Amino acid sequence: MRVLVLNGPNLNLLGQREPKVYGRHTLGEIESMLRDRAMRRGVDIEFRQSNAEGELVDWIQKAKGRFDSILLNAAAYTHTSVALRDAITATGVPVIEVHLSNIHAREEFRHKSLIAPVCVGQISGFGAFSYVLAFEASVNLNEP
Ligand code: DQA
Repeated sequence: MRVLVLNGPNLNLLGQREPKVYGRHTLGEIESMLRDRAMRRGVDIEFRQSNAEGELVDWIQKAKGRFDSILLNAAAYTHTSVALRDAITATGVPVIEVHLSNIHAREEFRHKSLIAPVCVGQISGFGAFSYVLAFEASVNLNEP
């Protein structure tokens, strides 16, 4: 089983970026946590981050036939990107939406996710542990 973890804009700043909202873990620490877990479960995992919408679209497109599922924290593009939504639909690889913060408990503009309707499900509000929950959900999708 192969899982791709995609992270959108400003998530490279985790650890120093609004720690009260996003916690103190860096993206590198989250990556190590998932790599450990993936290794124990015999899952291949790839981890990427970009601040550019088009690059995230390219990675989603290229995931077809190469990954069994995608964990996607699209960050701010969650609330704006028709392009990411269309890429998910076009590619057909199951996507699990991930957020560190609870987007529904924050500003109103964050309540709407353009990608939610085309994702398998959404995990939001558990800090770095959201990624662990999403990883477990992706394993369960493939080995129910
Ligand atoms: C986020 C929530 C988004 O609203 C925000 O723009 C982010 C991070 C989260 O993980 O909580 O950059 O996706």
